[in-house]
Amino acid sequence: MATSLCYAKPLKPFSLRLPQTQNPQIPTQTTQIREAETLTITGPTQLSGHVPISGSKNSSLCLLAATLLCSNSCLLHNVPTGLSDTKAMLSILRSLGAKIEFNERNKEILVNTDGVGRVEPCLEEMRKIRGGFFVIGPLLARFGEAVVGLPGGCDIGERPVDLYVRGLRALGAAVEISYFLICGNRLCKPTISHSNTEKMAGIANFCIITSDDTGLQRDGRVLAHSANGKGLVGGSFHLDFPSVGATETLMMAASMADGVTVLSNVAKEPEVIDLARFLNDSGACVYGAGSDKLLIKGKCQLRGCECYVPPDRIEAGTFMLAAAITRSLISISPVTPSHLSCLIDKLKIAGCKITRCNNDTLEVRVSAIPENVCENLRGFNVRTSPFPGFPTDLQPPTMALLTTCSGSSIVEESVFDRRLGHVRELQKLGAKIQVCGSTALVFGRETRSALHGSQLRAADLRGGVALVLAGLVAEGTTQISGIGHIGRGYENLDTKLQFLGADIKRSIAMASQL
Ligand code: UD1
Repeated sequence: MATSLCYAKPLKPFSLRLPQTQNPQIPTQTTQIREAETLTITGPTQLSGHVPISGSKNSSLCLLAATLLCSNSCLLHNVPTGLSDTKAMLSILRSLGAKIEFNERNKEILVNTDGVGRVEPCLEEMRKIRGGFFVIGPLLARFGEAVVGLPGGCDIGERPVDLYVRGLRALGAAVEISYFLICGNRLCKPTISHSNTEKMAGIANFCIITSDDTGLQRDGRVLAHSANGKGLVGGSFHLDFPSVGATETLMMAASMADGVTVLSNVAKEPEVIDLARFLNDSGACVYGAGSDKLLIKGKCQLRGCECYVPPDRIEAGTFMLAAAITRSLISISPVTPSHLSCLIDKLKIAGCKITRCNNDTLEVRVSAIPENVCENLRGFNVRTSPFPGFPTDLQPPTMALLTTCSGSSIVEESVFDRRLGHVRELQKLGAKIQVCGSTALVFGRETRSALHGSQLRAADLRGGVALVLAGLVAEGTTQISGIGHIGRGYENLDTKLQFLGADIKRSIAMASQL
């Protein structure tokens, strides 16, 4: 542990300065261009053919963060290099001093973190994604210090970091969050600075960057170091909620802590299992991944490894829903059906036929048209919950499908508290949906063509893809702005849909259209 600490340049603990270059209110040119891009879809359409599924976004982000633990190079295959989230994570690693080589065509990334000499990643990149926050775990574990910005990501509700903070404290870290206000390109003043654990749970609810009526933005940094000055130590921590990100961050931290760590009520998502495999292949001792309890024996060094990023279950699920909403027959591969069993069960209830047609490549065939055209799919109820429950990331595109099914359906979002932003946009297409709190009542239609085209705005990643799916079956032209959100999690979505026969075009909109 002591030898690894020498990689980090000594930092003045808890000194806070915001460099002018990292101002969040000055959009970069890339952001402006993405904002100006639109998707124009002419429907209704039917799809046919095969779609290749990219590597998992969420696994990639976490595995890239985990390379910070490893003293040798790590080779990652099947990384979705086209996603803006992946690019942001690579920038975060580069800003710390990691050397990255990648082969875009083969989707391979070689990461060497030997030269990492900073523990404060680029704040601007951190703000773009939620997954950037994961680096706090490996930085603390390997270098004993970390100074990270509060995470960005989709605005789908309060997304506190209290579980990360409390969990890291249980492993011997001293953690403080400093909040400050930004006006224009000026840092106004630090607003709150708390290290008190009791207050933290409430205070942490303010962690997301928000702008209020005054035009001020609230932001903050998390400053952490090992309390004993030597490194993290094993400990026990019970997560109040099985947070995926907190589980992954604490797993990484515990892998290099001194002693044994027990984490309970942890997330059971497949991405947690992918991370455990990576850590164990790198020399760590992580037991219990996939159950609700993890036991981790810390090692003083991890060597790194070669790994394959599994297919993105959310992208796979989205294409299954695309097939269902367009009443089409498509095949997708590679896919792990057991990761999508909740969705498969629901689609079968609706009347879709889903066939596993090749064991080796795990192809899944979705068909809502067995022999003759069957326009009418039945509605069903959905309640999102942590894995193995119905994935919250598939709730918005599932709601798009339900607007075209018969009967009424209840959609209950139980993971995030503001994840129904797509409802208003779907209503512009003619969908009949009533919202009460985190529950939506979707009144189905007799035929899929009951929706009509309109001008829409994607406000977040999965909500954005729901609009694309609805646009595929809406009569006439649907134009969607804000599609930069979609590029965070779907590689070449428009090209993949075009290949299946959709009439979908990407263009730069005139300012007046935005
Ligand atoms: C990850 C995924 C995201 C997915 C989500 C739930 C990544 C990069 N993103 O996000 O696509 O939608 O899992 O499957 O992997 N919470 C707290 N305190 C914390 C942490 C979380 O209260 O310290 C709450 C959140 O506010 C939320 C719930 O836990 O209500 C679930 O969040 P979490 O599982 O942490 O999601 P992420 O890891 O952010």
